Amino acid sequence: MVPSPPIPPSSASSPWRDWQGSALVVGLGGIGRALRQALPIRAPQLRIWSAGRQAEDHGDYLQLDLADDASLARLAARAQEQLAPLRLVICTAGLLHDSQIQPEKRLSQVQRGALERSFAVNAFGPLLLAQALEAALPRDQTVHFASLSARVGSIGDNRLGGWYAYRAAKAAQNQLLRTLALEWQRRLPRVCVTLLHPGTTTTALSAPFSQGLAAAQLFSPERAAEQLLDVLEKRQPEQSGAFLAWDGQTIPW
Ligand SMILES: NC(=O)c1ccc[n+]([C@@H]2O[C@H](COP(=O)([O-])OP(=O)(O)OC[C@H]3O[C@@H](n4cnc5c(N)ncnc54)[C@H](OP(=O)(O)O)[C@@H]3O)[C@@H](O)[C@H]2O)c1
Repeated sequence: MVPSPPIPPSSASSPWRDWQGSALVVGLGGIGRALRQALPIRAPQLRIWSAGRQAEDHGDYLQLDLADDASLARLAARAQEQLAPLRLVICTAGLLHDSQIQPEKRLSQVQRGALERSFAVNAFGPLLLAQALEAALPRDQTVHFASLSARVGSIGDNRLGGWYAYRAAKAAQNQLLRTLALEWQRRLPRVCVTLLHPGTTTTALSAPFSQGLAAAQLFSPERAAEQLLDVLEKRQPEQSGAFLAWDGQTIPW
């Protein structure tokens, strides 16, 4: 049983309390759903949208497959029509395992198809999302564009090996969004790009790998969401391009 520590109230002090426009959470998994629930407390005036593969275009939900260009093009059009000005974007989509792929324990398990699928979601997805949404970002207001990476994507911190496709795709995401941060510092200097590691969180993604962990090493999705928003709220556009853990600590690339 995973304990859910008390979540601190955080509405009145949030720098986002007066923000107007939209927020978009991409990914309808454990952390994505918890972020959607948590955001209205901190940003009560933003309209919160969610996008994911399982969603239908209805109300505040948008159908989106990050691995499909036509789907991204539809999102781009909707974003300009309905989501602009888009003040907060958090991409929580990620792929570690499904019915076809499992993280590799050794070289002999590496498969081209699994590498390609992992890169399509974990690396290319967030960058192509940024491309689709760029026109809906305001030029004259602070914007956060955050994406969930993973500590295992750190090259400097890789001491265990294994998980080739996921590690490499998250490392590639880090490089792609760091490069984006540098471009936007010139072209869209009010946008703060942040790569976030949520900590091991009890979702479908981590379920097969978290059994051996003590409950104290696991976060509920609700707690992970609050911690990630705590980190993000403190960031400024001048700090764009960082890779941070759930406690605000910088992770080596
Ligand atoms: N949980 C952890 O311990 C942990 C640790 C480190 C990093 N992370 C990262 O945190 C993020 C959120 O993970 P989570 O724990 O919330 O996992 P999750 O519950 O499995 O959610 C991941 C979501 O990504 C979506 N997704 C996958 N491929 C997609 C695509 N092509 N287009 C759109 N959405 C797609 C999945 O959609 P479907 O439902 O359609 O499959 C799923 O809803 C991921 O980036 C993950 O790598 C998690």
